[in-house]
Amino acid sequence: MILVTGGAGFIGANFILDWCADGDEPIVNLDKLTYAGNLGNLASLKDDPRHLFARADIGDRPRVESLLREHRPRAVLNFAAESHVDRSIHGPADFIATNLVGTFTLLDAVRGYWSTLDEPERSRFRFLHVSTDEVYGSLGPGDPPFSETTAYAPNSPYAASKAGSDHLIRAYHHTYGLPTLTTNCSNNYGPRQFPEKLIPLVIHNAVAGKPLPVYGDGLQIRDWLYVGDHCAAIRAVLERGRPGETYNVGGSAEQTNLEVVRTVCRILSDLKRGRDYAAQITFVKDRAGHDRRYAIDATKIRRELRWTPAETFESGLERTVRWYLDNEAWLDAVTSKEYQRWITLNYTAVPSTA
Ligand code: NAD
Ligand code: TYD
Repeated sequence: MILVTGGAGFIGANFILDWCADGDEPIVNLDKLTYAGNLGNLASLKDDPRHLFARADIGDRPRVESLLREHRPRAVLNFAAESHVDRSIHGPADFIATNLVGTFTLLDAVRGYWSTLDEPERSRFRFLHVSTDEVYGSLGPGDPPFSETTAYAPNSPYAASKAGSDHLIRAYHHTYGLPTLTTNCSNNYGPRQFPEKLIPLVIHNAVAGKPLPVYGDGLQIRDWLYVGDHCAAIRAVLERGRPGETYNVGGSAEQTNLEVVRTVCRILSDLKRGRDYAAQITFVKDRAGHDRRYAIDATKIRRELRWTPAETFESGLERTVRWYLDNEAWLDAVTSKEYQRWITLNYTAVPSTA
């Protein structure tokens, strides 16, 4: 069996659903259930013996150790994190606690467990850390995309906390020989993403007739990847990746934020034969320290592990918009009081004049 952390969140839940659709190996899902964790994401696995849920914090060492002893996983995949850049600007402490200290605690507990295994279990074991391209900082317009050898230059508290955790993973492989793997992926989108992130926020607001907030001039670039393609990349790295290596994952789908928002509006207009949603676009105050451009060079994972994305940006986005239109109950459930509090905190600024 494998142990997954953060499996009630966006990418972790998609990973578990895909995993269970594909085989019989059980999963232990260790998740703290923060505002971003939602067991409703895994409702279809309720009563399925392959999915064992444990509400726990990756920073709770005794609990992590006891789960490892009890279930004896052949691999641990760490998705658990505070994941939203804007929240890291308003309150960085939780990001340091979970992404840095929590990952350290998990990693060290896993090292202890791993050292008790017999060969060949020890050499077969894997610790896979799910990370981000944001650790590399921001690119200029003509710069080549991030590769695995690009120097780290994190700019937000979120990116810095993830960069720190990546360094710990590297050190645990180098120093102790723990068979680690790290993936650094670009922006994901798809079903079950919490509507504080750009794409689900825009879908949600568009349908509700609310403003579609675009930070600054909207010309910041992200390299978008459909979540199912990210999950397939993680499975490929888990099964075929070389211990100690890092793999960049991305869809080669660079888009400005304004292009993304306009494409969502066009798909919505086509699907709902509705109004001109683009008229709701509103330029608002820019994010502090906003990175201008991210882009991933995924040559290594494509060549070495024969991974390739199945969705284009257009096809993945259409699937995503359809999912949100078909799952209003899911959206209603996650847009709770805490969600309203966040929206008020982050979007109190008057529209910008940019
Ligand atoms: P998410 O915020 O949707 O989910 C995070 C999950 O982790 C939630 O279920 C939450 O309850 C859980 N969690 C938070 N703190 C925890 C703790 N201390 N102990 C146990 N569980 C805890 O995040 P996501 O978008 O699914 O991202 C998953 C991982 O992928 C993160 O590590 C993130 O850095 C990385 N990543 C995300 C993206 C993206 O575009 N979303 C891109 C690249 C990498
Ligand atoms: P986001 O989904 O928060 O991901 P990240 O910050 O990890 O890239 O944001 C994607 C881009 O969209 C980023 O450049 C910020 C921008 N953005 C907006 O313009 N308006 C918004 O309301 C949000 C949430 C993001």
